[in-house]
Amino acid sequence: MTAETAKKTIDELIERIDFYNTRYYQDSVSEISDFEFDQLLKRLEKLEAEFPQFKYAYSPSQRVGGAITKKFNTVIHKNSMLSLSNTYSEEELMDFDRRVAKGLEGQEYEYFCELKFDGVAISLWYENGELQKAVTRGDGTSGDDITTNARTIRSIPLKLKPEKGLPETFEVRGEVFMPRVVFEELNASKSMNGEALLANPRNTTSGTLKMQDSAIVASRKLDCFLYYFQSDKPVVATHEAAVHLMENAGFNVSKTYRRCLNMAEVMAYIHEWENKRNSLPLDTDGIVIKVNSLDQQDQLGFTAKSPRWAIAYKYKTERARTKLKGVTFQVGRTGAITPVAELEPVQLAGTTVKRASLHNANEILRLDLRIDDLVFVEKGGEIIPKVVGVDFENRKEGTEPFLYPTVCPECATPLVRKEGEAVHYCPNEEECPPQVLGRIEHFIQRKAMNVESLGPETLKGLLDCGKIKNVADLYTLTFDDLNGLEFKVYSEKKGGDSIRSLRDKSAKNIVDSIEISKNQPFDRLLFGLGIRFVGSTVSEILAEYFTDIHKLAEATYEELVEVPEIGERIAGSLCQYFDDPENMELVERLERYGLTVKADIKKENEGNGVLDGKTFVISGVFEKVSRDDLKELIKQHSGKVLSSISGNLDYLVAGDKMGPSKLEKAQKLNTKIISESDFLEMIGNDD
Ligand code: IVH
Repeated sequence: MTAETAKKTIDELIERIDFYNTRYYQDSVSEISDFEFDQLLKRLEKLEAEFPQFKYAYSPSQRVGGAITKKFNTVIHKNSMLSLSNTYSEEELMDFDRRVAKGLEGQEYEYFCELKFDGVAISLWYENGELQKAVTRGDGTSGDDITTNARTIRSIPLKLKPEKGLPETFEVRGEVFMPRVVFEELNASKSMNGEALLANPRNTTSGTLKMQDSAIVASRKLDCFLYYFQSDKPVVATHEAAVHLMENAGFNVSKTYRRCLNMAEVMAYIHEWENKRNSLPLDTDGIVIKVNSLDQQDQLGFTAKSPRWAIAYKYKTERARTKLKGVTFQVGRTGAITPVAELEPVQLAGTTVKRASLHNANEILRLDLRIDDLVFVEKGGEIIPKVVGVDFENRKEGTEPFLYPTVCPECATPLVRKEGEAVHYCPNEEECPPQVLGRIEHFIQRKAMNVESLGPETLKGLLDCGKIKNVADLYTLTFDDLNGLEFKVYSEKKGGDSIRSLRDKSAKNIVDSIEISKNQPFDRLLFGLGIRFVGSTVSEILAEYFTDIHKLAEATYEELVEVPEIGERIAGSLCQYFDDPENMELVERLERYGLTVKADIKKENEGNGVLDGKTFVISGVFEKVSRDDLKELIKQHSGKVLSSISGNLDYLVAGDKMGPSKLEKAQKLNTKIISESDFLEMIGNDD
């Protein structure tokens, strides 16, 4: 293919992919199947790899992320990002309207109302229709440059539709958020992994935007609504016109806005959305009322902290009062004890609440909870309702402070509390029934070994009758072990235990699906082991980096923290896991039974493998391809990118302005130092 045809095809592919992306992410319409969409993207990526000179920053292939931001640079906002004054009372809202009327000295005016999205504010700069920079609000005066991560958010356009009214340079602001369903999925998988749950979608969004690895950011499915437009030279007369301009240019604007001619209409809007907002895909905590005319906004101006032309009305968090019937304690897969408040059922924000989270022993102490207390329950930004306080005035006489258990409610082992941690643990990993069951359930789940035909009840039955004690025992089960097996099943509906037995077909299915699970790739097995803090994404990273369970098990703490995205907590947990001889014995048994303990690099990387296993460090600035592209090329050709120079490094790809200390270290260690052209020649791409 000639360069000219390649460029034309790339342009066309970008346009088509962008179109389907917008339809899908902004209008919720799938015009083509996922498969067809992936095919288009793959074609684009392939062409971009062949013709890196046409790999544009605005290409939709950039959305998958991969680039690492080691440090987020501070950027001073050209226009400071002020906050809004807010109120919970309709009365104060009327005061705001009176101040606006006074400030505008008898002029007619109207409002534009929007929902107040509960996410993380972002400022986006566009130049000639292309996204240049994305910056967090920070302290309002300066924020962090998170452009690399923002590029992965599919509803943030990288290149705008040509729109007549758009100036050459402008800023838009909006709110990045994690849709509630995405948050719930993420927490469900955290819970399966025995990891600490995330508090709410807003904090999770904020944490995600500051992650170093943009590939993980991409996987987190963030979204963004824009609600503010600003340019040096005025291009519109009202905020409403600015909103339409943004919509027409391809920005994602929530269709929940409304122009309101007076306060009665504003109040109607507030009341209408009070309940309706619960059905939106994201959290909202109020509404924002803005004077519509931009000229009038100028006349009203700003106080030191916020505009005089806008105000936020916040909905009160819904709260209910109910009786605390008792506290139960759940033991998780990792032995973590979670106290749960058992409540007299009560209606709250449209659902019946029977249980609420109590977090840990400190929280119970802080609340000074007693059984039979009337407690207040709230459903705020958090998904799970929580107990926020006690109605002390109505406390019954003679109640006693609540005593936290000292032994495990399941196996009676004395509980432990690690230094600096609020959570109690049951240390009886080997025998505490919910821990043993939880570990096996985790191992056989779809995202791990995917042993489809083994349901939770059968699994419990197998444990109860001593057929298995751990995940390796699954692979010793034979048809005869299972056929005819009888076990008790508890059913709340039937109000007791009943007997279930395994017969021919189900026994055969279980044996078959255990056998098939041996083919699950290495990263799934690693995830299935249930090592603390090692979720599915971390498992993928580790499997790709170390390629073999023994190499991973032998890696030192220092080597582990060298791996991108592997922090001290994960490294510590991995060392602890592999230092335990019982875990190593389990791993060895799994290997002996034929499970996949090595990554299939060739299959995973589609490159031609000329750099098979070779390691590279990239340093400096390059002429022909960007650093990110270099990394991508190395991976595509089955090489590995390391972040620092060490004795086992094969090549240092040296660009311009490379740090002298790196060069010195590489020379000392006799590492081969190659140029950008040398590298391109190695992969046969030297034109
Ligand atoms: S307008 C100059 N509109 O609320 C005022 N802000 O407390 C520009 N927010 O930092 C802000 N939804 O993060 C505006 N529809 C909306 C909003 C909104 C949420 C956030 C924003 C801002 C904070 C102000």
